[in-house]
Amino acid sequence: MSTASSKLAIDGGTPAVTQPLPPMFPGGMRIGAEEEASVVEVLRSKRLFRYYGPNPGESKVALFEQAFAKLMGVPYSAALSSGTASLMCGLAGLGVGPGDEVIVPAYTWIATASAVVAMGAVPIIAEVDESLTLDPLDVERKISPYTRAIAVVHMRGGPSRMAELQAIAQKHNLKILEDVAQAAGASYQGKRLGTIGDAGAFSLQFNKIITSGEGGVVITSDQKVYDRVLMYNDVVGGTRNNIPTEEILPGINFRMGELAGAVALVQLQRLDDLLTTMRQNKRTLTASMADVARQKGFTFRDIPDVEGDAAISLIFFAPTAAQADTVKKALNAEGVGTSVLYYPERSDYHIYRHWAPILNKRTWSERGGPWRTHGREVEYAPDMCPRSLDLLGRAVQIDVSPELSGSQIEEVAEALNKVLGSL
Ligand SMILES: Cc1ncc(COP(=O)(O)O)c(C=O)c1O
Repeated sequence: MSTASSKLAIDGGTPAVTQPLPPMFPGGMRIGAEEEASVVEVLRSKRLFRYYGPNPGESKVALFEQAFAKLMGVPYSAALSSGTASLMCGLAGLGVGPGDEVIVPAYTWIATASAVVAMGAVPIIAEVDESLTLDPLDVERKISPYTRAIAVVHMRGGPSRMAELQAIAQKHNLKILEDVAQAAGASYQGKRLGTIGDAGAFSLQFNKIITSGEGGVVITSDQKVYDRVLMYNDVVGGTRNNIPTEEILPGINFRMGELAGAVALVQLQRLDDLLTTMRQNKRTLTASMADVARQKGFTFRDIPDVEGDAAISLIFFAPTAAQADTVKKALNAEGVGTSVLYYPERSDYHIYRHWAPILNKRTWSERGGPWRTHGREVEYAPDMCPRSLDLLGRAVQIDVSPELSGSQIEEVAEALNKVLGSL
């Protein structure tokens, strides 16, 4: 432990953290000579497009897809331009379209819901529970005759309650699309996330666990789903992949370019090491604050499979939203970047309550979007998921960077003990 005084920094004491902590770009901060060499190789070959160029050679995107599928343990993977594109391709793969409803969690990046709207379907918002992922009981309540799929989002690295959600999907004959944008490489009961549902959608945007700046991947074990993804993500994906002419559907382009593929291929090799380090760091931090948290009435986020957690984030619930805010401010003063996941007045597209374009059913056509022609009236309201808002308003969040040094972890632990102990 450092020698920072026990007087809180917010009250004029010495901050527990002596040097700025590393920013939370897990794969991004590891970009190095290997990524550089891989990109330079592509540039020198002048083959920037997956399918052709002036010089022959292997496609980085194709190599990345193969390596990604192998690491995840599935036969099929398609590399794409973004996580949102991956969600759209996943939904297209599962046959979701106009007339359908897809259940999405109240806590997810708005892209999960936007992708549903973009496919012409209607998002139905369900509560999250103490796992900050879908509450299976509310999912079951939200099922209607129009429900086609559940978008299960593994938020902030933590696996969702897959056993219960799978049972519900099976009972009601629904598809599961896993949104693994924030949890690449994490697992549930020994299976990598994204391989449990009918399809898994990943993001490689810059603040994800591994990154190509922008990018995404869809994986599946179902060849029919894969064929549909190939047709949707590439205008000529049908003919390019020898799909019989009479089965070809109209697609659009969401292909990944070779430069992104060159980076993604190297980043993938870094994934398991990043996870190991973040898990170790999170275990240390969690253990260091467990006693004081219990004494002060704080509880940890309930992770359905702790072993499988990607461990990017340490989240605990304060007894009240006011206390969460006090802790956040005091930790920030100590030098530990801390957030509270929901404030009513602060716009944040991770919280359904702030999804104004969705809640107000705004669409690109003045004649209205999927809701206009849908088989039933679907209404949204800002307070429709009160439990989620309560939990998120009390949720204190700290990034668990893989770049934290041993002494930085000690300083963060000291800050946590100092701040919670002072309450
Ligand atoms: C849960 C979740 N889903 C989907 C996305 C969309 O990914 P992208 O930004 O790559 O389109 C993100 C990240 O931005 C996300 O966090």
